[in-house]
Amino acid sequence: MGLKLVHLGTGAFRAVYRIKGTDFVIKFLTDGFFDEHSRDEVNNIKKLAKSKSLRPHLPRIHYYDPKLGVIVMNYYTRYNKTRANKPHPARAYGDITWERVLISDLIKELTGVNFSDLWDENLRMDKNDVVKFVDVGC
Ligand SMILES: Nc1ncnc2c1ncn2[C@@H]1O[C@H](COP(=O)(O)OP(=O)(O)O)[C@@H](O)[C@H]1O
Ligand SMILES: [Mg+2]
Repeated sequence: MGLKLVHLGTGAFRAVYRIKGTDFVIKFLTDGFFDEHSRDEVNNIKKLAKSKSLRPHLPRIHYYDPKLGVIVMNYYTRYNKTRANKPHPARAYGDITWERVLISDLIKELTGVNFSDLWDENLRMDKNDVVKFVDVGC
């Protein structure tokens, strides 16, 4: 039985194909690269998964061949800014984009501080255009 592969994209290191009729992709190293990049990706995903806030954003890996550097992971649709903010995650609305939800979750995880009011109104800038959090009351 042969699997049909549909090319999705090629980055600097890997060529990625959707396995036709499935919700999986397979990543092959492009010629001339060793398996480091795929190994690093698999290891980094494991490390990042220790964070509760990051876990929902990590791709699901089903198979990794360290010798060939081949990874099989879930297929994900193209990034869409509008859909990324609704209906999930439920707390993303207005100025509070999914990135800001993630930042406040990471702040909570790291420091225990609830800083969820990341509205533009509560952000200011210093002379060097560094953003300042001016209302970390909640
Ligand atoms: N799980 C996936 N689902 C759908 N498309 C993917 C997936 N992983 C990667 N791609 C697509 O394939 C491209 C190349 O994959 P990537 O892992 O970024 O390779 P590289 O390490 O060479 O940059 C990505 O930019 C993306 O568009
Ligand atoms: Mg890439």
